[in-house]
Amino acid sequence: MCGIMGYIGQQHTQEILTNGLKKLEYRGYDSVGVAIHDGEEVHVTKAEGRLDNLASRLQDAPLQGSIGIGHTRWATHGRPSDENSHPHTDDETEFAVVHNGIIENYIELKDELVAEGATFTSETDSEVIAHLLTKLYDGDVVSTIQKVVEKLDGAYALGVVSRHTPGKLYAVRQASPLIIGSGNGENFISSDIPAVLEHTRDVYILEDGEMAVLTEESISLMDVTTGKSISRDLFRVDWDMEQAEKNGFDHFMLKEIFEQPKALEKTMAGRVDKETNEVDFPELAWTEEQVAKWDKVHIVACGTAYHAGLLGKAAIEELTRTPVDVEVASEFRYRNPIVNENTLVIAVSQSGETADTLAALRQSKELGAKTLSITNVVGSSISREADNVILTLAGPEIAVASTKAYTTQVLSFYLLGIYLAQKKKQITPEQNAQYMAALQEVPEQMEEILFHNDEIKEYGESIKDAKSVFFLGRGIDTAVALEGSLKLKEISYIHSEAYAAGELKHGTLALIEEGTPIISLLTQEKLYDKMLGNIKEVSARGANVLGVTMRGNVKVTQYVDETCFIPETYSLFTPLLSVLPLQLISYYTSLALGNDVDKPRNLAKSVTVE
Ligand code: F6R
Repeated sequence: MCGIMGYIGQQHTQEILTNGLKKLEYRGYDSVGVAIHDGEEVHVTKAEGRLDNLASRLQDAPLQGSIGIGHTRWATHGRPSDENSHPHTDDETEFAVVHNGIIENYIELKDELVAEGATFTSETDSEVIAHLLTKLYDGDVVSTIQKVVEKLDGAYALGVVSRHTPGKLYAVRQASPLIIGSGNGENFISSDIPAVLEHTRDVYILEDGEMAVLTEESISLMDVTTGKSISRDLFRVDWDMEQAEKNGFDHFMLKEIFEQPKALEKTMAGRVDKETNEVDFPELAWTEEQVAKWDKVHIVACGTAYHAGLLGKAAIEELTRTPVDVEVASEFRYRNPIVNENTLVIAVSQSGETADTLAALRQSKELGAKTLSITNVVGSSISREADNVILTLAGPEIAVASTKAYTTQVLSFYLLGIYLAQKKKQITPEQNAQYMAALQEVPEQMEEILFHNDEIKEYGESIKDAKSVFFLGRGIDTAVALEGSLKLKEISYIHSEAYAAGELKHGTLALIEEGTPIISLLTQEKLYDKMLGNIKEVSARGANVLGVTMRGNVKVTQYVDETCFIPETYSLFTPLLSVLPLQLISYYTSLALGNDVDKPRNLAKSVTVE
């Protein structure tokens, strides 16, 4: 989704903006631009496509100045083009604006502005903001921004520079993330922390309805409606820049796949009582009475986080016998869900900013449910708005395709299931100890899979010309199959589907032909024989089958063309291991196809629009 970077200070503004935008590339974008105030005028340069296109334009005609805003655009209103790229300006370039989000009432605003003589040069909703700023300018940029914001419906994070104020940079947040970086004699605005981290670790996280006015020496926060000043502590970022860099790996995705053992260890640490081996979530501190009240759990999420939610359902139902619904947030929010004060609603989101998940969370709160979020980003909207938060400590996830966030979400669900079972007295101390011992072994077992990945690499390369790839599983393996299939399609662009294996013969079997790659998961002992039956069905139609199964399950080798063995663990926990080969397969397939692994086409890392 779009990215915003802004700078005020005495360093090389153009370079700081473009370097910051580079760090936001992971969000997905199709055009890019900057506006720099040279003390007299505001100058804009923009380009369709990647940052390199902008860089070559800036090389031919560099922009000088000590205040600037930059933007990576992910097209929503109007195709990717030079004209539709941000920053947008009014007719006289009195104001330049970068915008992330959607202005829902832009058509009526635009009609009004055009009728009054404004000339629009783009098809975007964002351009109305620049024209409104000029139209409503009253000699004071802060009060002008306040008047403009009053007219806007929708979601927006804004960065604004004005010809009238050569020493100020403005930022506004409404339902779209924005942070302010506090430096020494320089300050920054950005959509995300990695973009400012090489300059400062001290940030303010803007809340909805807030505006920031930045000079080189100061940052003032205020309520955008009332103008009332807000005082807030700086948030100190405690993760390293290294964590947001590739660190010797060719791609962020590969680095993040390999970071999973550490990410799991971190997520588990502090949540396990060393003496009793019981799970403890100090951040929840729920009482037995509270937990007993919830007769239903509802999980809402999108994409990969939804797939983690499917495993959350399996874990919570298995461990506590409480019924759990899982639903994609974009559907949940437009239904009339049966959620009330006896429901625990869990919103799962890596970014903590996904618009649909946030809306589902808000709706659940309105319906009186207790809300819990499982997110990876401290200070994100979802983490702040839920009653309680479990932070997955995966560290920054930069590749668009989620990997380490997913496995830490799944682990969080296992720990939560055990925690709830403890509170409900549905788990014996022995079971508890066995589960915890198994979970603590998982990081090492992951290392084993990761460091013997040559065969997985070969397999990934071998399916690069496939027309279609199918993933099959039964029970919780079906949820992992869905995740494997999503990973493959999003970065290799190969058509892929995941199926509960028993369902195949009800239609989809018609698509299986000579050589069709099938990736089948066989990690659930009680379902082995059923799965082997389904494998026979596809093999008989000429499919080429890879079996992902537990070490020791040699029987499967007689039925499949290739086998990938993973270490043994409790059947409930196998997804933490079986997903690794699937992540690696999609990575190597994408690589063999020469795709942009970390930034797949059409996709954005943080989906802050509906
Ligand atoms: C796929 C992927 C997406 C996200 C989805 C939700 O690899 O990353 O499917 O899982 O867009 O994003 P978050 O978790 O940020 O709410």
